[in-house]
Amino acid sequence: EKGTYAHYMLKEIDEQPFVIRNIVQKYQDENHNIVLDNDIRQAMLNTDRVYIIACGTSYHAGLVGKQLIENLANIPVETHIASEFMYNMPLLSEKPLFIFISQSGETADSRGVLVNIKELGHKALTITNVPGSTLSREADYTLHTYAGPEIAVASTKAYTAQMAVLAILAGEAAKAKGIALDFDLIKELSIVANAMETLCDRKEELEQIAKDFLATTRNAFFIGRGIDFYVGLEGALKLKEISYIQAEGFAGGELKHGTIALIEKGTPVIALATQKHVNLSIRGNVKEVVARGANPCIISMDGLNDESDAFVVPAVHEILSPLVSVLPLQLISYYAALHRDCDVDKPRNLAKSVTVE
Ligand code: M6R
Repeated sequence: EKGTYAHYMLKEIDEQPFVIRNIVQKYQDENHNIVLDNDIRQAMLNTDRVYIIACGTSYHAGLVGKQLIENLANIPVETHIASEFMYNMPLLSEKPLFIFISQSGETADSRGVLVNIKELGHKALTITNVPGSTLSREADYTLHTYAGPEIAVASTKAYTAQMAVLAILAGEAAKAKGIALDFDLIKELSIVANAMETLCDRKEELEQIAKDFLATTRNAFFIGRGIDFYVGLEGALKLKEISYIQAEGFAGGELKHGTIALIEKGTPVIALATQKHVNLSIRGNVKEVVARGANPCIISMDGLNDESDAFVVPAVHEILSPLVSVLPLQLISYYAALHRDCDVDKPRNLAKSVTVE
């Protein structure tokens, strides 16, 4: 039930702090040890390369998952779009482990890959919001995202939940390999939940940003570097899906290789700046588009911010920043769609679960 909420999407955005806290709770026992099937730990220990397979928003979570697993557990990861992997399978490593990410657990493109790799004799782990779903049943192992039912077609809380579970998995894989993390992951996830909560209280600011930047525009660009680029892809997908504004996410450094030709006077460019090591370079990319007339909307992380930034999110551990920086993007898309009189929860041409290839 959506209760007092006008739309499921808004309700589901607001639920994110609770979802992250719920995950933190579900994945710990009373002694604060992480609860994870030992076979999953072993599978992460035995593999020489992880292949993450997913579609849409879950694919975007998988891109962040690559960073999490590579950075924390030092295991090489490739993230693939399921429908591409299906017909253009890359050369596999000697001991591949497949991770399927799917909110519904019923996505046909992902299932097609699962069937194929099982035939080849490889192991699969499914991260899903629906245990008992096809992808969960047919994989060797399942991790539950505990996000509760997601009704809006545009995925929000399932995405942040997927990334939280990927972080826990990466942390456990690190531990299993004897790599000591220099931070307390569970504590950092709790900080993320608190940051999300403060963002949910800043809706008016984000509604204003949606009005200022997206009220009448035909198109919009999202730029970032590293994980900010991946979050930009998700921000663009959200905006496209529900507001029908043509939106694209780009790696900051890639713009000048072609896309910058599309920048006109007033083109909204939403730039993410949550990563210290690329803060200067992404700001340099913003200058490049501003020089061509773009209307820049910088969303930065506290501590890396500049006076002219449109919105500053609270500081969290850099590798977990996508869980926080996506929230303003979800809300900006929501308000842009609302102001354009779009059907937020049921956008045209889309289904919640895509069960055809
Ligand atoms: O259920 P899944 O996570 O497998 O679904 C994958 C995509 O169809 C899904 O994320 C889609 O892109 C959403 N509508 C995005 O908001």
